Amino acid sequence: MLPRLGLIVSIRIRPIVCLLGVLVLNVQAVLAEEATQEGPYTDTECVSCHTERDPELIRQWRASAHGPESGVECSSCHGDFHQGSAVKARRNDTCSGCHEGPASHSYTTSKHGVISRLESVKQDWQKRLKAGNYRAPGCGYCHFHDGDHGDTMAPGRGPEMRQWVCSGCHSPRYVREQFANGYRQMEIADLKLIEGEALIAASDHGQTDSLTKLRLSLIRHHKNVLYGVGHQSPDYQWWHGQPALDGDLIRIRDAIGERLRQKRFSEQLLTDTEILQSSKD
Ligand code: HEC
Ligand code: HEC
Ligand code: HEC
Ligand code: HEC
Ligand code: HEC
Repeated sequence: MLPRLGLIVSIRIRPIVCLLGVLVLNVQAVLAEEATQEGPYTDTECVSCHTERDPELIRQWRASAHGPESGVECSSCHGDFHQGSAVKARRNDTCSGCHEGPASHSYTTSKHGVISRLESVKQDWQKRLKAGNYRAPGCGYCHFHDGDHGDTMAPGRGPEMRQWVCSGCHSPRYVREQFANGYRQMEIADLKLIEGEALIAASDHGQTDSLTKLRLSLIRHHKNVLYGVGHQSPDYQWWHGQPALDGDLIRIRDAIGERLRQKRFSEQLLTDTEILQSSKD
């Protein structure tokens, strides 16, 4: 009797189980569909849904230079829709749109930039930014390597991170040599910046317009060396960088010398007038 009853029960239960199974599958499908829906989404929605999926990615974005205070949102790089969102962020134009000037120009004049531009059309941008998928690195390849939203090139991430990213394409020894050369270049540029700042500070005309302009130019050219070194652009190391800094130092000395001569000259004039005055008395 019992086995028969069991059979009847199981026959009766089976459709229910099947029905339940279908329901569960449906719920999963609905959830998945909802999760990958096309959009558009607001940035608050991007952040809250992705916080559930990948809290580490959101933490990296918050702590980075693109975090909430910068005003850069998920959609600034990805757009409002899911379709093509990763591809959009991987492309150089997305970054260059905001980082115009030396940041982009130093890259486009580098070998990486030239190769990346030439091969942009046949490059498959659907691929993740990691070793083996690209011949030359674009902005995102270095700064958002393998989906990391915490700027993989930031000095705070340590030299090992950069070494790892570059070594995907170059021999570790070559990369070490490039960085050693880069650090030397930066040390020299730092010394020039310090020297220029000290000259301006020591001059009692530190606040004049021409010296303020020269100081800004010094800071700009120092940054050019950083771009030259970071983006492997000889143009920025050797043209817009070091020689430009040398030019700044010469102009700063000239400006200070000129002011000093003018000062002495007017003091001289004063004493001459005084002598004239006293001779009249
Ligand atoms: C309701 C939840 C939800 C919202 C809102 C949401 N996403 Fe997603 N997103 C997902 C899920 C789930 C995936 C994973 C899809 C997959 O695995 O194919 C995903 C994947 C992605 C990917 C990777 C795509 C790829 O091709 O690898 C990016 C980039 C992304 N989302 C960005 C955004 C941005 C930007 C916004 C806001 C404009 C946003 N998401 C809003 C759930 C969401
Ligand atoms: C400054 C540009 C930038 C911003 C801002 C940005 N992303 Fe991304 N994101 C990228 C790049 C570049 C990639 C491609 C990384 C890759 O292919 O390895 C990416 C990849 C992703 C992926 C796929 C990650 C993976 O491991 O496959 C997700 C998901 C994503 N972003 C979500 C977001 C969300 C959510 C926000 C906002 C909190 C956001 N991103 C903000 C540039 C950005
Ligand atoms: C919507 C505009 C916008 C987009 C798009 C954008 N950025 Fe930025 N980026 C900013 C702002 C704003 C800052 C913070 C202010 C600053 O330091 O310039 C910043 C900071 C940075 C920094 C750090 C600069 C520093 O001084 O520490 C790097 C590196 C950077 N972005 C690279 C990228 C890369 C690579 C991409 C493309 C994947 C990108 N950015 C896309 C606006 C943008
Ligand atoms: C080969 C790897 C690589 C590529 C490609 C690359 N960068 Fe960089 N970038 C670096 C390194 C390394 C630095 C130096 C970081 C440092 O020491 O502060 C840097 C510096 C920067 C800075 C200044 C950061 C600061 O601290 O002031 C910005 C902004 C930036 N890059 C944006 C871009 C943009 C935009 C592109 C594409 C047009 C790009 N990068 C392409 C590696 C790269
Ligand atoms: C995705 C691959 C890839 C990555 C990642 C990459 N490079 Fe390159 N790099 C190349 C290619 C390809 C060339 C051109 C080689 C040639 O000249 O034939 C090149 C050229 C160079 C050159 C030579 C420039 C010249 O004028 O001759 C230097 C220096 C360099 N890379 C340094 C770096 C550094 C430093 C990093 C990391 C911050 C890096 N590369 C990351 C692919 C890459």
